[in-house]
Amino acid sequence: MTNVQAGLQAIRSRFPVFRNSIYLNSCSQGALSDAVEEAMQKLLEMWRYQGSPWDEWVQEYEVARGEFADFIGAEADEIALVPSVSAGVSSLATAFDFSARKTVLMSEFEFPTMGHVWLAQQRRGANVKFLRAQGEQLPPSLYDQAIDNDTLIVPVTGICFKNGFRSHLSEITAAAHARGAYVLLDDYQDCGTRPRNVRELDVDFYTSGTLKYLLGPSGLAFLYVRKSLISKLQPSVAGWFSQQSPFDFATERFEPAASARRFQSGTPPIPNVYMALAGLRLLREIGFQNVAAHVAQLTSALLEGVQELGMRAKTPANSVGPLVVLQSHDAEAMVKALAREGFICSSRHDGLRISFHIYNSMEDVELLLKALARNAELMVQSRSVTTASR
Ligand SMILES: Cc1ncc(COP(=O)(O)O)c(C=O)c1O
Repeated sequence: MTNVQAGLQAIRSRFPVFRNSIYLNSCSQGALSDAVEEAMQKLLEMWRYQGSPWDEWVQEYEVARGEFADFIGAEADEIALVPSVSAGVSSLATAFDFSARKTVLMSEFEFPTMGHVWLAQQRRGANVKFLRAQGEQLPPSLYDQAIDNDTLIVPVTGICFKNGFRSHLSEITAAAHARGAYVLLDDYQDCGTRPRNVRELDVDFYTSGTLKYLLGPSGLAFLYVRKSLISKLQPSVAGWFSQQSPFDFATERFEPAASARRFQSGTPPIPNVYMALAGLRLLREIGFQNVAAHVAQLTSALLEGVQELGMRAKTPANSVGPLVVLQSHDAEAMVKALAREGFICSSRHDGLRISFHIYNSMEDVELLLKALARNAELMVQSRSVTTASR
């Protein structure tokens, strides 16, 4: 066994789901590790034996803020810890008055929540526009042509949840900034599979949650707001954890935090904080560079194998992952057929979603390719699509 294989076995053994299945659904929920389970156990014991150690819990919450900030190359004061991406982006959206600039420009590749949050701002003056994709691709020129002096913000999904397409972020950011518009990166479908640095990405806002590739639970997400913008943006939703001094318990004083904490609301989800930190630390121990290289290898092996089988991938052939989506005549039936063979994956519309993380192996890919071949009648062949699209 090579060192890489031995290392992979050691990592994989920490995720019990692999004892009885091949887990390929990190795009929906990261697999549970022993580390995250232990963190939950620790929290339960504190609760059981200490009752209400809130000082310690709030301290851990601040530790989490620092570690998430560090992970994306930001300062702790630039991070709001929120219960979901929807909650964080909603709070941000209420901070704009849509007077000087009205347009929110996004594409049809965004996760639904991004559309809903900004569409809810229409009655406050927002003009929400959606770019139409060209097949499974969104050339950056579409953004370049559409962004104008009325564009306020451009929300961009890093990876599209339904086809695995990676947005051309640097071109989009350059076009937006050249015309004075902000960029919000929704990195949920990629965050945890590679090193991240918001300064290098040059985005104004960044959001992700902990339940997918960060290997944590649902119920915790974070929103980064570029430092120079925080004081200019005051959300019109609030709560005591959005205030400068929550523990003053001053009901009649409204003083939003000077930091990005102003985008938060109420009592933090402490169990999630403990588990999310354990997931993040496990990944940091392994190294994000290593995760990225591993995921890229598995992704290209699957895409090559699929091409040899003559099946149609919705994901571009040069993808580095983590999400590969294959077109199916009945994606739900395909998920069920694979489940009967021990695979856990998911579907969206006509796409079978396969996602890789550090715990997946080349053997997973080989076994999956054999299972795809056995169920080929449910998969769209690349030739039939070419003919259909003529
Ligand atoms: C790209 C993307 N953004 C946002 C979300 C949802 O975020 P939340 O449920 O935390 O609001 C998802 C969930 O699958 C997603 O894939």
